[in-house]
Amino acid sequence: MTHQADIEQLIQLAIATSQNAYIPYSHYPVGAALRATDGTIFTGCNVENASYPVTICAERTALVKAVSEGRRAFDTIAVVTRNGGSPCGMCRQMLFEFAPEMRVILADLQGNITLDCSLSDLLPHGFRPQHLE
Ligand code: THU
Repeated sequence: MTHQADIEQLIQLAIATSQNAYIPYSHYPVGAALRATDGTIFTGCNVENASYPVTICAERTALVKAVSEGRRAFDTIAVVTRNGGSPCGMCRQMLFEFAPEMRVILADLQGNITLDCSLSDLLPHGFRPQHLE
């Protein structure tokens, strides 16, 4: 169970990280803060590219930072946008690989929560590693 103070911390970290977003094309900043089950928090922002599809989203930035630092279990992710935008399908699938039941908190850039649900709510019947066994 994640305490309210922890949620607030994740949202504030996501907001701060959104300020590092590299967004010359969309001008749409996104920030994410992903908490591993050991309590470590990994942040991410979106990083765009002149070759548009090369862009990486904030959520996947945070996830690859975490996995490359040895974490594979997560309990919560906070994602902030200016208008409550929700994670794209690619990010949902990539997060689902590691923690289908993690809590997903969406908030705006003022910290107002717009959605609080589980990843499996966002990606019902998702494709799992077990499908390949
Ligand atoms: N974006 C994210 O960072 N996360 C999402 O889940 C949705 C979209 C970014 C990608 C791009 O830099 C900008 O938002 C507009 O699509």
